[in-house]
Amino acid sequence: MTNKRRSQEWFGRTDKSGFIARSWLKNQGLPNDVFDGRPVIGICNTWSELTPCNAHLRDLADQVKQGVLEAGGIAFEFPVMSLGEALMKPTTMLFRNLASMDVEETIRANPIDGVVLLVNCDKTTPACLMGAASVDLPTIVVSGGPMLNGKHHGKDLGSGTDLWKFSEDLRAQKITQEAFDQAENSMSRSPGACNTMGTASTLACMVEALGLTLPGGAAIPAVDANRRRLSRLAGRRIVAMVEQDQRLSQILTRQAFENAIVVNAAIGGSTNFILHLLAIAGRLGVELTLDDFDRLSQRVPLLANLKPSGDYLMEDFYYAGGVPAVISQLAHRLHGEVIQANGLCLTDNYRGGRSYNNAVIADAAAPVQEDAGTVVLRGNLAPDGAIIKPSAASPDLLCHTGRAFVFENIEHYNAVINDLTLPVEKDDILVMKGAGPRGYPGMPEVGNFGLPKKLLLEGVRDMVRISDGRMSGTAFGTIVLHVSPESEIGGTLALVQTGDFIELDAREKILHLRVSEDELARRRQRWTPTLPAITRGYASLYIATVQQAHLGADLDFLVGHSGDHIDREPHPE
Ligand code: FES
Repeated sequence: MTNKRRSQEWFGRTDKSGFIARSWLKNQGLPNDVFDGRPVIGICNTWSELTPCNAHLRDLADQVKQGVLEAGGIAFEFPVMSLGEALMKPTTMLFRNLASMDVEETIRANPIDGVVLLVNCDKTTPACLMGAASVDLPTIVVSGGPMLNGKHHGKDLGSGTDLWKFSEDLRAQKITQEAFDQAENSMSRSPGACNTMGTASTLACMVEALGLTLPGGAAIPAVDANRRRLSRLAGRRIVAMVEQDQRLSQILTRQAFENAIVVNAAIGGSTNFILHLLAIAGRLGVELTLDDFDRLSQRVPLLANLKPSGDYLMEDFYYAGGVPAVISQLAHRLHGEVIQANGLCLTDNYRGGRSYNNAVIADAAAPVQEDAGTVVLRGNLAPDGAIIKPSAASPDLLCHTGRAFVFENIEHYNAVINDLTLPVEKDDILVMKGAGPRGYPGMPEVGNFGLPKKLLLEGVRDMVRISDGRMSGTAFGTIVLHVSPESEIGGTLALVQTGDFIELDAREKILHLRVSEDELARRRQRWTPTLPAITRGYASLYIATVQQAHLGADLDFLVGHSGDHIDREPHPE
């Protein structure tokens, strides 16, 4: 045993501080020898009954603990703020950065040598990774896995994706309220995250592509025994990572980020991936910009045929070979030499991957779609960028010029969207303001706002929609998101008026407001920012310090890292 472990700064002392650190923990029945210098592993758990997608994580934590013990370490499970998409208002994104602070400070303040991050629902993954990255201890991730496929009236139901369809069908009076209600019991059949390639599964795949979990870990269903086995093996592995001092920053290299971007394009991953990856990179000082996503996603074929872009669900993806089947087909585009959490390089980890069902994971020679990655748009409407996910859009709308129909904010939208006399036409471009990081605040998933009822009743199912907000990873449509700078701080989006013409050209990557510079200057002079309605608490801190979407929407003072060192003791000598 070495005496140089970080935890020994607490446990390896013979003074009053050492007494305190050991004695109070002994109230849990710990014998003396657990303080002898063996690796101390923190199990950072985002379990919460208010986060249904993470409600099984205490079970997985038990498996991690077993693995740690088997490998000669000692584990302490600790809770951190959990972020459940299904319940939290106004949006979990408002709290991602807050949760990251909880994770960072809890890890740093405690006698921990290595960390296992137990995550699942969308924001729990980036929040934990951002916080852990700012401490930079040896770290491994265990995602909770997706729910089983939803089953309803003989068909598979995808979390979110099918709800958005049912909801629009209900508004269009194509289904009854009773039919809508019946689906509620069939969508979420087991513990786990959304079973589509929504944000949670996208980020689980991101974690795997970054090399932060054991190979094959992303897609295992939450209730499959293999997920418990993976948790146990992760517990064993983190002990070895501590012994080898394999830190997060050694895995999260620029090359690893590039790998994740390529894999995300091939799986048709959520647009939220971009925000979170930028924020994680920012914590480590790895240079990453929107242009990297654009460049690296180009000509990457869509291999995964999963909702919302395709037909199948995460359970099918797992049986078809999961991330290993995707990575093995992208080998020539990836940095194979990067070392991953298990100590091996990507090439060695994924050599045996293959697709067992080409309907779900296509062959690269016959992809679901050519050139499917997220497109970064620029133009006077988004000087710092905006994004669109072509694989989830209507092909005939990807190049479209139309008249803007503007909703000044979400309240305006809610007040008029069901008005059957609304003067909106099917070829209009719908614009929503006030949904950015500062404006809402928190950049909610309102970018996939529903179509006007009047047009739904006419059979319209998609229109170009533009906002400074985000959209659920489970959503679909011709939706331009993350417009930066946002309207709240005076971005061009704030100046758009109903009747203006907007040009969207996803092929040429253009988002242009056809209004003269002189007229825009006049409108800008008249524009006045609204004062924040929130003046206290965390939300006011968020509004004052949040960065724009193209930078990852982290708080400006959280960018970067402070390491694991602590200068001062809680008690005098
Ligand atoms: Fe938790 Fe979708 S609501 S993963």
